[in-house]
Amino acid sequence: MKYDSQLFKLKKNDRIADGIYSWVVENDNLPGLARCGQFANVKVEGKTLRRPISICDADDNSLRLVFQVKGEGTEIMSKMKPGEEVEILAPLGHGFDIQKDKKYCLIGGGIGVPPMLFTAKQCDNPLVITGFRTKDLVILQDDFKAAGAETVLTTDDGSDGIHGFVTDVLKEKLGEIDEVCACGPIPMLRAIADICRGKVRCQVSLEERMGCGIGACLVCACKTKPKDGEEFMSQVCRHGPVYDAEEVFFDE
Ligand SMILES: Cc1cc2nc3c(=O)[nH]c(=O)nc-3n(C[C@H](O)[C@H](O)[C@H](O)COP(=O)(O)OP(=O)(O)OC[C@H]3O[C@@H](n4cnc5c(N)ncnc54)[C@H](O)[C@@H]3O)c2cc1C
Ligand code: FES
Repeated sequence: MKYDSQLFKLKKNDRIADGIYSWVVENDNLPGLARCGQFANVKVEGKTLRRPISICDADDNSLRLVFQVKGEGTEIMSKMKPGEEVEILAPLGHGFDIQKDKKYCLIGGGIGVPPMLFTAKQCDNPLVITGFRTKDLVILQDDFKAAGAETVLTTDDGSDGIHGFVTDVLKEKLGEIDEVCACGPIPMLRAIADICRGKVRCQVSLEERMGCGIGACLVCACKTKPKDGEEFMSQVCRHGPVYDAEEVFFDE
């Protein structure tokens, strides 16, 4: 596969929650429509390494990226103004495998929620369960509803939606769904995989430190166990970030 870094124009940069920003970037020469679960690798002024951000939504010539300020790179991104140009490699990675005739439960935790919006748009009437620490961090609820999803919101402290975890809701709904797709912190993904094991297929999107984002540097290597093969060091940027949950060693 050929990877071309392209100049995008920043059309929107909106603060949508405490420390969380929503970008829309445009480019008329996008190399192909993104698939849900893929990511963009964003060049930040003054930084050598790009910042990987999941594709939250996409069409023929634009991408939406939603990110939380964590360090210097995302801080710089949060301060950029509409009209500025930004160099992005996208779409990258291996996304969610979505089949039209299945009932999906899509689960996002915290800043793992954004890729589930584009995923929801590829599913028929999905159930979307999202979990956040507290109400100030809740994002994208109206977008999920506009995409035709049934939504269930949870917060750890009970300040919005159901007081509890996404896994409490999943356990109740397991009998109503065919497959699960999830993105969020590793302990959440591990708990979801445990609930789904032997009952419904579960795909998870992993977040791993990255360098190149295109399979050239091995920074993102992690051990996986494909169903029919031997354990191998997988590159999350190239073979992932989405894996079948049964392929993942969550403890390492
Ligand atoms: C496939 C993928 C999708 C992601 N999607 C999103 C998203 O949709 N929204 C969002 O807010 N964040 C997302 N992240 C995490 C995001 O990449 C980091 O928060 C961001 O790179 C931090 O950069 P920084 O300069 O602000 O922080 P710093 O800690 O200063 O970054 C230093 C270096 O470490 C790398 N790094 C730091 N944290 C991470 C991390 N968690 N994952 C990978 N590299 C990291 C940075 O890219 C940079 O090269 C994603 C990560 C991956 C791997
Ligand atoms: S980030 Fe370089 S190989 Fe994955």
